[in-house]
Amino acid sequence: MKKQKSLVYKCSSCGKEEPKWLGRCPECGEWNTFTETSVQRNETLPHSRRKESGIPQTLPLAAVDPMEGSRIGSGIGELDRVLGGGAGGMDCGIMKRSSVLVGGEPGIGKSTLLLQTAAAALTKGRVLYVSGEESAGQLRLRADRLGISKEKMERIEILCSGNLTEIETVLNNVKPVLVFIDSAQTLFSENAGAVSGTVNQMKFCSFELIAWAKEHDAALFITAHVTKEGVISGPKTLEHMVDTVLYFEQNDKTSGLSGTEDCRFLRAAKNRFGSIDEIGIFTMGEQGLSPVEDTGRMFLVRRTDTSQGSSLPPGVATAAVLEGSRTILVEIQALTIPAKSSVSRVFSDKIDSGRVSRVSAALEKHLGLRLSDQDLYVNAAGGIRISEVGVELALACALYSARTGLSLPVDLAIAGELSLTGEIRPVRRLAARVKTSASLGFGSFLGPIPEQTVQGLNGAGNIKAAIKLIFGSSKTE
Ligand code: TYD
Ligand code: MG
Repeated sequence: MKKQKSLVYKCSSCGKEEPKWLGRCPECGEWNTFTETSVQRNETLPHSRRKESGIPQTLPLAAVDPMEGSRIGSGIGELDRVLGGGAGGMDCGIMKRSSVLVGGEPGIGKSTLLLQTAAAALTKGRVLYVSGEESAGQLRLRADRLGISKEKMERIEILCSGNLTEIETVLNNVKPVLVFIDSAQTLFSENAGAVSGTVNQMKFCSFELIAWAKEHDAALFITAHVTKEGVISGPKTLEHMVDTVLYFEQNDKTSGLSGTEDCRFLRAAKNRFGSIDEIGIFTMGEQGLSPVEDTGRMFLVRRTDTSQGSSLPPGVATAAVLEGSRTILVEIQALTIPAKSSVSRVFSDKIDSGRVSRVSAALEKHLGLRLSDQDLYVNAAGGIRISEVGVELALACALYSARTGLSLPVDLAIAGELSLTGEIRPVRRLAARVKTSASLGFGSFLGPIPEQTVQGLNGAGNIKAAIKLIFGSSKTE
């Protein structure tokens, strides 16, 4: 068989191939980077894609070993939760043969999370930690700081390199079950275009390593930096290559919260083997990341000023929202001031501002509460982003309270969806929200009218009825 030889022009910066020479690369925008290359298709394919020729074979689904889909516990509850797995938290953890991208700003704790996972993972197999960012000495210092035992350190093999060929050689020698790569941006290979440090280098090398893990029954974690401005073109291109994409976020270190001083959220942006609803909550302390299991009260503000008695300051309401499968109580804060321009504006980055506009329109229409001439500021305590629809009733109450100056009781938790018609719609897992709130000391709960009676729940059919239940009567009547 004659080998196919073809001429192409290849960008030396990003690797884009074009049949004709171009002055400027349409992919990366670099000038004068196209060079003529002849490719013999079979030989230039990377190792992982070079397969023995022959007739591809299929396999009856029933003949596939179910163990191929099994998981390794990461040893870190909050990470297992995000990675997902069997219902009810059973068999959660790192999927074998899978790859996980951990993205986040520099300094957020990606390397710390990887090293902690390397130590904690529930496997007897070997673990390889590849760092292109830190020296072996720095890694050892960090491991000591994290309190990783000698015994655990024994099984973690360290390689400080970003060179793909070196890493592949080591992988084939060590044959680890878990591979940690820190970071995608430090990987390079001579086979991936002339310029090192480009997106193409990162893509090429990451792909090779991901393929290695798949072929050798290992699981792979790879970190990628994301800048503050959200310039994530690099890591974004990795997203479709991996099975799971986790992003690490940080709160704004708002003071006054109960224990959320240095709190980090791990969210799944993509998860081929689990849901993307669950978030992992950690705090960063002297000994690295600690999972926060008792998250119920984390997003409530501790108030030392008790002059308000049993009332919250005006503009504050407590929402019982679902984050994945758990209920958390979050203080929603609203402020309304007369609009500075003829158009009123909404300033809200923790709750979607479209949602704030809709809720305020419903309040104006159904309670006659004038909000359209006001600028609206909305915040959620603890810097947590809330996208769950059940926050709407609490948001409505916070806006009402801010506009009227009437305070809500301290021990009232609220959940419900507010429709444009002013009706309060049912929300998922209402009984669980009421139960969690009660266990955290919230004596009363306001929500939609339930289908079956829920103990401790005061149901209201519409926003007017809800406001009456809280304040006795609507101020605008
Ligand atoms: P790191 O994991 O290096 O972040 P990334 O890899 O995402 O860049 O985390 C670094 C930050 O975490 C740094 O500001 C120091 C802090 N840190 C602690 O507070 N406690 C610890 O035990 C460790 C290891 C780090
Ligand atoms: Mg790092």
